[in-house]
Amino acid sequence: MSRQFPKTFLWGGATAANQFEGAWNIGGKGVSVADVARFKPEIDVEDMHLQWEISSKDIETALKTSDEIYYPKRHGSDFYHHYKEDIALMAEMGFKVYRLSISWSRIFPNGDELEPNEEGLKFYDRVFDELAKYNIEPLVTISHYEPPLYFVRKYRGWSNRKSIDFFMRYVDVLTTRYKNKVKYWITFNEIDSIERHPFMTGGLIRDQFDSNHEFEQAIYQSMHHQFVASALATKMIHNKISNSQVGCMITKLTFYPYSSKPEDVLEAQMDSRKLYAFSDTQVFGEYPAYLLNLYQKKGIEIIKEFGDDEIMKSHTVDFVSFSYYGSSCSAKNKEGLDYRPGNTSAAIKNPHLKASDWGWQIDPTGLRISLVELYDRYRKPLFVVENGLGAKDKFVNGKVHDDYRINYLRGHIKAMYQAIAEDGVDLIGYTSWACIDLVSNSSNQMSKRYGYIYVDCDDFNQGTYNRYRKDSFYWYKDVIETNGASVLEKEVE
Ligand code: BG6
Repeated sequence: MSRQFPKTFLWGGATAANQFEGAWNIGGKGVSVADVARFKPEIDVEDMHLQWEISSKDIETALKTSDEIYYPKRHGSDFYHHYKEDIALMAEMGFKVYRLSISWSRIFPNGDELEPNEEGLKFYDRVFDELAKYNIEPLVTISHYEPPLYFVRKYRGWSNRKSIDFFMRYVDVLTTRYKNKVKYWITFNEIDSIERHPFMTGGLIRDQFDSNHEFEQAIYQSMHHQFVASALATKMIHNKISNSQVGCMITKLTFYPYSSKPEDVLEAQMDSRKLYAFSDTQVFGEYPAYLLNLYQKKGIEIIKEFGDDEIMKSHTVDFVSFSYYGSSCSAKNKEGLDYRPGNTSAAIKNPHLKASDWGWQIDPTGLRISLVELYDRYRKPLFVVENGLGAKDKFVNGKVHDDYRINYLRGHIKAMYQAIAEDGVDLIGYTSWACIDLVSNSSNQMSKRYGYIYVDCDDFNQGTYNRYRKDSFYWYKDVIETNGASVLEKEVE
């Protein structure tokens, strides 16, 4: 018999409302942090992180205009108006699961209202009903880079303790409304990213704080609020929805020692620990000692309320999910080393790896390493909820021949199989990013494409928004149909 993935394996794809849904000012939706993220075509690939530096002044400028060219997340791929067609295409590929996020500001436009926006709730009802028609299981991320802007400006985002109440009101509404429609939930996308882009993740504007230290303090205080909110959300979901499964989600940045020098090995271990601090807290329900030491060293004081520790300890996650795009190196002495852009951070170049059009280093084996590391650490089911290749596609006569994407995905799927079959990892599913082209998080470009489905729209919002099947569409359909066997039969190029 040919080699296959486990029978219950959840094959699918992922998107997020802030980059995909569009309709930013339709249906009662409020403005979110994503809607004021400006596309800066002049910025070079190396300096992508500059896209995230958003000041109060930038926000004021953004709020004065309804422009969608330089604020491309406002239009995304217009899933809002294309959801039926998009879901039909997902069904055609055979999706078992679709990971999507709900836009908080579509449900609570300002974030602090007492009553939700019914029109927003109805939109997701329609989406979930459409998915149900095809037996596609939704996997919902409650917060994926989309805090409402009003909440950010008025309350200083997640640094304010009230954020937990606002968020829980939102979760309460979602879990009441969709309790019969959604079983799989992720509380926060890449919760660790608050350190790298505090605005998108935590709704923190640097100039609202008096000093760098105060800002850093706000980042960690926000992180604490998100941990408590995540645990409370997990409790609520478990109480209200039988058989529900709740996961944490991290950016799996995988670090190799640049050399075999012990100090480089130690550096790689420390870099990994910084990331594991987040999943450790959500899986074990308490802050790891090394994180507490770090706070002490930096003079950070987390303000906790009575009961926080108990909440975090009692409501831990059921599965661990993560994004994985590639790996990077760690070195004690970084002088003279070559850097490459990476997912939300710069990465030391690994001479053994090739890179994508955007410089991200491609490393399928790193996915296997990551799966083994995470499983050995947590012994919880794992879910790869993002993985894919952002590339420049050539769209000619309605077709895209994206063999480079197929090759990337084939390598990673094979690595997942090895982790399951040879290393004993409990991997429950795979939702590649992004199943349909959307606006890039880091670069705000439409031309950084990940999809199996091409969306006819360029970086300057020119196009019909029509959908076209790429070569990878048919390839992935075959992968799902054969439960992975079609990939495992062939060697990776
Ligand atoms: C992940 C995010 O970090 O990477 C997504 O969760 C993002 O929102 C994805 O789109 C790919 O990154 P980028 O910058 O290429 O869009």
